[in-house]
Amino acid sequence: MASERWFSAAHATLRAMQDSIRTDPESVPPFDVERMLAAHARDTFELHARHINPAMVGVLQTLGFDARFVRGEGAYLWDDEGHRYLDLLGGYAVFNIGRNHPVVRDAIEQAMRASLPNLPGIGMFRTSGILAKELCAAAPGGGGPGGLESVFFASSGAEAMDAAIKFARCSTGRARILACHRGYHGLTMGSLALCGHPEFRDGFGPLIGPVTFVPFDDLPALERELRTGDVAAFVVEPIQGKGVFIPSDEYLPEAARLCSRHGAALIADEIQTGFGRTGRMFACEHWGVEPDIMVVAKALSGGYVPVGAVLMRERINRAVFDSMQNCSRIQTTFGQNDLAMVAGLATLHVLREGKVVEHAARVGELMLNGLRRAIGAMPIVKEIRGKGLMIGIEFGRPESLSLRMGWDLLHKLDQSLFCQAILMPLMSDHRMLAQVAAHRVDIIKLIPPLVMSETDADDVARAFEKTVGACNQFPGPVWEIGKKLSSAALRRVSRGVGVAGPS
Ligand SMILES: Cc1ncc(COP(=O)(O)O)c(C=O)c1O
Repeated sequence: MASERWFSAAHATLRAMQDSIRTDPESVPPFDVERMLAAHARDTFELHARHINPAMVGVLQTLGFDARFVRGEGAYLWDDEGHRYLDLLGGYAVFNIGRNHPVVRDAIEQAMRASLPNLPGIGMFRTSGILAKELCAAAPGGGGPGGLESVFFASSGAEAMDAAIKFARCSTGRARILACHRGYHGLTMGSLALCGHPEFRDGFGPLIGPVTFVPFDDLPALERELRTGDVAAFVVEPIQGKGVFIPSDEYLPEAARLCSRHGAALIADEIQTGFGRTGRMFACEHWGVEPDIMVVAKALSGGYVPVGAVLMRERINRAVFDSMQNCSRIQTTFGQNDLAMVAGLATLHVLREGKVVEHAARVGELMLNGLRRAIGAMPIVKEIRGKGLMIGIEFGRPESLSLRMGWDLLHKLDQSLFCQAILMPLMSDHRMLAQVAAHRVDIIKLIPPLVMSETDADDVARAFEKTVGACNQFPGPVWEIGKKLSSAALRRVSRGVGVAGPS
């Protein structure tokens, strides 16, 4: 009798345990995102400082870039006090079509409702085939025979860049890669090896090699290296992101010819310049160049889902996937995931149907001219350059003795402070979010969502007129900010100005 009672108690316990295991999705209570966010309305910086990156929290708080953003739409962000900010940073060139574009959101929701057979593992993905076809059609040369006909999908820019190196090495049978001084291609171990910035490389070596750096926009230097015959690829951003450096007109066409003559692949990194950023769908188009390999990411999925892609000539793809045995030697689990693919297709649709690229060309021209009119003649402004909505404002040592004193003082304290002293009032007084273009440069970069309006462009010129204009007297407010920033404690966190960011 006792043993019967024991068995029935054990049975009941087992049943209770099984009941608490809820494999039926309907039986799991909903997850309330709104409630979760509301419960953490005030502790974002604390959580980041504790669990993610305390140094970054220090930098943002020091620079007054610690607004609590709660909403984003189009070219704007809103903080928790209801202030609207014009976003001149665009999530580091991710939100070309604007934040939270409803058409892309709707496409993603449709895809989720359709219960697609995502990531079948062994099996073909419908969505990635369609996106590959559309990407090739949109690429320089239109994806015709011999052109950019094949695609490899990845989950980020750097990962796609790693894959591009592998495709180039495997298809040429060579190892050496050429990259440019001041170039930026991502921070994975492979892509980092191509970055011409010691700030990112130091502390992580040894990196993959052989990699040789050549000056950007220097054809003789490029030819000297290519002539040795051991180069697999020359990797180049058509316009260098870290500083917005635009090459002379002959550079990329001639680089393409040289690569072809010497059997190396020309890899164009369009991760930042792609999808309308420079007023053309891809920056290579400004010079009529069709690279052998083109790497894209960032704006491709409208800012919703991580994505990256390597477009390449068919012969390169075939050289790598050359047999059944080698059919999977470059792959990644999430590369072709349905949500990224659908977001990519919807983003291409928005770019096309909304004529976003043409809009970027027009508003970019307006903003460039507006800025040149507003601040171009100021003694502290060296050059304002750009294509489309990728604009760099470079400052330089002024002639006037008193201004030069302020300039030298700040630069002696820290090479990155001057731009930051302009960006801070731009943020606090004009509610515009922008960034220093790189470590230790006097260049501010503007890469806003391409959907910003003509009025926004006028506002930007006016805001810079005020903030840069304030540098025209020394002592003056901007120099004061710089001085404050340079106090020992602040200098420690702002050195190299972390908010120069990944782009
Ligand atoms: C030109 C360029 N290449 C590569 C990358 C790396 O992309 P990701 O940050 O998605 O790895 C970036 C990112 O800023 C970039 O601007």
